[in-house]
Amino acid sequence: MAPGVGKMLFLLLILPPITLSTNPSFTVDYHQNSFLKDGKPFRYISGSIHYSRVPRVYWKDRLLKMYMAGLNTIQTYVPWNFHESVPGVYDFGRDRDLGYFLQLCQDIGLLVIMRPGPYICAEWDMGGLPAWLLKKKDIVLRSSDPDYLTAVDKWMGKLLPFLKRYLYQNGGPIITVQVENEYGSYFACDYNYMRHLASLFRSHLGEDVVLFTTDGAGVGYLKCGSLQGLYATVDFGPGANVTAAFEAQRHAEPRGPLVNSEFYTGWLDHWGVKHSVVSTQAVVKTLNEILEIGANVNLYMFIGGTNFGYWNGANTAYAPQPTSYDYDAPLTEAGDLTEKYFTIRDVIKMYRKIPEGVVPPSTPKFAYGPVQMKKSLTVVESLDILSLSGPVKTVYPLTFIDMNQAFGFMLYQTVLPVDCSKPIPLSSPLNGVHDRAYISIDGIAAGILERNKAITINITGKAGSRVEVLVENMGRINYGKTINDFKGLVFNLTLGSDVLANWTVYSLSIDEAVSQGLLPASFSSSSAPSGFTTVPPPALSPPAFYFGSFNIPDGIPDLPQDTYIQFPNWRKGQVWINGFNLGRYWPSRGPQVTLYVPAHLLSTSVQNNITVLELEAAPCSPAPCTVEFTDTPVINGTVKSTSQYTRRLFTKQDLV
Ligand SMILES: *[C@@H]1O[C@H](CO)[C@@H](O)[C@H](O)[C@H]1NC(C)=O
Ligand SMILES: *[C@@H]1O[C@H](CO)[C@@H](O)[C@H](O)[C@H]1NC(C)=O
Ligand SMILES: *[C@@H]1O[C@H](CO)[C@@H](O)[C@H](O)[C@H]1NC(C)=O
Ligand SMILES: *[C@@H]1O[C@H](CO)[C@@H](O)[C@H](O)[C@H]1NC(C)=O
Ligand SMILES: *[C@@H]1O[C@H](CO)[C@@H](O)[C@H](O)[C@H]1NC(C)=O
Ligand SMILES: *[C@@H]1O[C@H](CO)[C@@H](O)[C@H](O)[C@H]1NC(C)=O
Repeated sequence: MAPGVGKMLFLLLILPPITLSTNPSFTVDYHQNSFLKDGKPFRYISGSIHYSRVPRVYWKDRLLKMYMAGLNTIQTYVPWNFHESVPGVYDFGRDRDLGYFLQLCQDIGLLVIMRPGPYICAEWDMGGLPAWLLKKKDIVLRSSDPDYLTAVDKWMGKLLPFLKRYLYQNGGPIITVQVENEYGSYFACDYNYMRHLASLFRSHLGEDVVLFTTDGAGVGYLKCGSLQGLYATVDFGPGANVTAAFEAQRHAEPRGPLVNSEFYTGWLDHWGVKHSVVSTQAVVKTLNEILEIGANVNLYMFIGGTNFGYWNGANTAYAPQPTSYDYDAPLTEAGDLTEKYFTIRDVIKMYRKIPEGVVPPSTPKFAYGPVQMKKSLTVVESLDILSLSGPVKTVYPLTFIDMNQAFGFMLYQTVLPVDCSKPIPLSSPLNGVHDRAYISIDGIAAGILERNKAITINITGKAGSRVEVLVENMGRINYGKTINDFKGLVFNLTLGSDVLANWTVYSLSIDEAVSQGLLPASFSSSSAPSGFTTVPPPALSPPAFYFGSFNIPDGIPDLPQDTYIQFPNWRKGQVWINGFNLGRYWPSRGPQVTLYVPAHLLSTSVQNNITVLELEAAPCSPAPCTVEFTDTPVINGTVKSTSQYTRRLFTKQDLV
C-alpha cells in the first residue's frame, strides 16, 4: 500500500462525522485569493507527468516519487490522438488506461489537475490533435470551423462524461480542469470557439467544477486566451520576474488564487540542437519566490518520460523533438532521482509538511552489452509484406492522409522519364518533402531530401530507371499556426524543370509487420564478395531492416532491469524491441544517443528480438555490426546540424 493511503484512511477515521456527511468541494475563493478545498483554504504544489510518456507498469513508482517529493497534486494532459487514432474507435486500454492512472493518483493521495485539450501542445504529435482531422484539407484547427467542432464535440462527449466520475466533488482526485491550452498564443483568437468549449465542458462536467485557462504571463496572451467563467492562470519559468508575471494574471483575474500552471524545471530538446539544461539553483530560486507569496504552482515537467514510437512533435522552422522527453526534470526520463529532485523537495519542505518515509529508489539499470545485428530485406524488397492494402496509382503524389496513414513511412515509386547520364537535379522546389526522403535509383541510394534543409540532390540514371522515394514523417508540428502539418510528398518533385508524374504509392504498415513477426529475421543475402573487405561501407544505402536477438543472462538476481540501447556508427532510424516501437535514433544528428528501454519489454524465458530500420547506412559491411545495451543514458551528445533554429529558454513564443 502506498504510504499516502494509510494516512488518508487514518485521517478519515479521525475526522468528525459532520465532515464525512458533507459533500467534498473544490472552489475558488475570490475574497481570500485562494482555492477552497472542503471549505478550507488550499494551495497546490503540483508536478506534471504525462501518462502517455511513461509505461503503465511505472505509473505507481513515478507517482509515489512525486508524492514523496512533497507534491499534493499532479497535472496531466489527455492526448486526443493517443485515444482516438481512428475516428470513432476509442482506446483506453493498458498504457492508455486513464481511469487506472487516476485511481492510482487517488490511492497514493495526489489530487489531479486535468488538461483534456482538445489541443495540448506538449511537444506531442500535432499538439494531441488526431491527424485524421486533416482529411478536410482546409480545416481551421482550434477554431469554430464546423467540421473541427463536430469532431471535438464527439470526442469530448466520450471523454468528459468519463472524467466526471473522477471529479473531486464526485469523490475523485480531479480538482480543476483546463479548457484548451495557451489559446492566447494561437493566431485564430476565436472567442466563439472558446465559448463553445466552455459551455461544452460545463454541460458535461457540471456547474461546480473549477474550469481554467493557461497562457503566457503577458497581457497580450491573456487577451485571446482567457474567457469569462474560466479561471485565468499563467505560465513562466525560472528567472522570470514573479511579481510582473502574476501582475499579468491579475490583469485577467483581479482576485482569486495566483497560479503558475507551468513552471519550467527544464526545457525541451530538438534534434540537431544542444541538449537543454536548466540549473537547479535557477529553478529553486524562482520556485521559492512563487511559494513565498502563497501562489499555486505546477512544475512542468516533474518527470518528462519518453516519446515512444512516433509520438514526438516538432516546432517551426521545422525542428522535430527527439525520442527522449527527459526535460532535465527532477525525475529523469527513467524515473531516477536527481539532485534537482532533492533540492526541490527541500524547498517544498519549507512550505508544507512532506510525507515521512523512504523515497522509492531509482530503478537499477543493466548493461546487457553488444548484440550482433544481421541485415534482412530492404524496405523495397519487403513491399509485399509491408503494404497490406497494396499500392495506389496516381499521376501526382498523394499525402499520408490521402492514403489514410497517420504515422511512420510511405514509399513513392516512379521511373525516370528520360536518360539522365549527366547529373540532373531532383528537387522539391516548394519544400514539399515532409519530412525526410530517402531516394534510390534502380536500388542504389542516391541521396536524401530534408524539409527546410535539403531541397535538391543530383541524380543520374537511364530512361525507365526505377525511382524510389521513402518518405519519413518525423513528427507533426505541435505549436503555432502551422499545426496543419501534412506528411509525405505534399508538393510535386521535379527532375530538371519537369514535374515527375505517374507515381505508385505504398502505404506501409511497418509496425504491424514487425510486431507480428512478418519480416524474415534472417536473410541469406548475397554476401559481399571476398576481396572487397577493404572497401569502406557506402556513404548511403537503401533503407533496410536489421535483426538481432539476445538472452537475459542467467544467475543474476532481479533481471530483467531497465537498460539503454545505443547505435555505434549507425546513422538514423527506428527501433523495435520485441515488437514494441521504442522510437527514433539519430546519433549522427544528436543530441540524443541512447534510447530508454524499460524492463517490462524484456523477457527472461525466451530470446529478445531487436528490429532496426536503418534509413541511411548501417555499419554492417564489411565488418559485422552491433547495437549495444548500456546502463548509462546519453542524451547530451554532440550535435551536427545546419539548423537555423535557435533556442531561447522559457519562451515558446520564440519558437515560431
Ligand atoms: C519586477 O516587476 C515589478 C512589477 O512590474 C517591478 O516593479 C520590479 O522592478 C521588477 N523587478 C526587477 C528585478 O526587474
Ligand atoms: C548539382 O550539380 C551541379 C552541377 O554540377 C552543381 O552546381 C550543384 O551544386 C549540384 N547540386 C547538389 C545539390 O549537389
Ligand atoms: C503537381 O503538378 C501538376 C502539374 O503542374 C499540378 O497540376 C498539380 O497541382 C501539382 N500538385 C501539387 C500538389 O503541387
Ligand atoms: C503518365 O502516364 C500516362 C499514361 O501512361 C502518359 O500518357 C503520360 O505521358 C505520363 N506522364 C508523364 C509526365 O510521364
Ligand atoms: C523473438 O522471436 C522468436 C522467434 O520468432 C520468438 O520465438 C520469441 O518468442 C520472440 N521473443 C519475444 C520476447 O517475443
Ligand atoms: C552529459 O551529461 C552527463 C550526465 O549529466 C555529464 O556528466 C556530462 O558532462 C555531460 N556532457 C556534456 C558534453 O555536456
